[in-house]
Amino acid sequence: MPKIAPSLLSADFMNLAEEITKVQIAGADILHLDVMDGHFVPNLTFGMPIVRQIKNISSLPLDVHLMVENPQNYLEELVKLKVEYVSVHQEAVVHLHRQIAIIKSGNLKAGVALNPATPVETLYPILPDLDFVLIMSVNPGFGGQQFLPLVYEKIKTLRKRAERVNPALEIEVDGGVNDENAPRLVSAGVDILVAGSYIFKSEDYSLQIKKLRK
Ligand code: DX5
Ligand code: ZN
Repeated sequence: MPKIAPSLLSADFMNLAEEITKVQIAGADILHLDVMDGHFVPNLTFGMPIVRQIKNISSLPLDVHLMVENPQNYLEELVKLKVEYVSVHQEAVVHLHRQIAIIKSGNLKAGVALNPATPVETLYPILPDLDFVLIMSVNPGFGGQQFLPLVYEKIKTLRKRAERVNPALEIEVDGGVNDENAPRLVSAGVDILVAGSYIFKSEDYSLQIKKLRK
């Protein structure tokens, strides 16, 4: 069964604490937090002060998706906060191996996120060191975009490779996830489904989460 990670990007920011409580009660497994800097992606969200406050009130594991140009600037703080998952973008980082080592030094789960046009093969040399890979199924920056089917092949290829070199690797998919594509994503090898608008733009969070799990 896949883990469901609601992305707060589509939540009501005027009532963030309430939204978090609602997805917790609705059965979410993980809370996905999109940190954007207006440089790596053409949008801005929130930074470490908000992540810290969310950490204080959330009982769910936090998954911090860093869509920023210099993710290394945030890693030390995230290690201190003891969030559960951290991903940096392959396209944003020169010294990927070093940054993964920093994340793992704090016993957090270390992941790399890949834009739709970045091949999974680019991660092969460090695949044994990773806890998870985040496959973007939209171009990062905004919620509510249309799912890109090109990810199915990427996920299958990655799962096959991981079976040999890192069987515990988790594969996460993010962008345009809904109850139509979820079953095929899971059979391709996905462990964690991120969903923003599918959950937060609905009336019944619990029903949406159940539909994704099926
Ligand atoms: C997009 C973010 C996603 C976003 C997904 O750049 O990384 O986490 O919130 O939103 P939906 O599920 O609406 O595509
Ligand atoms: Zn995300």
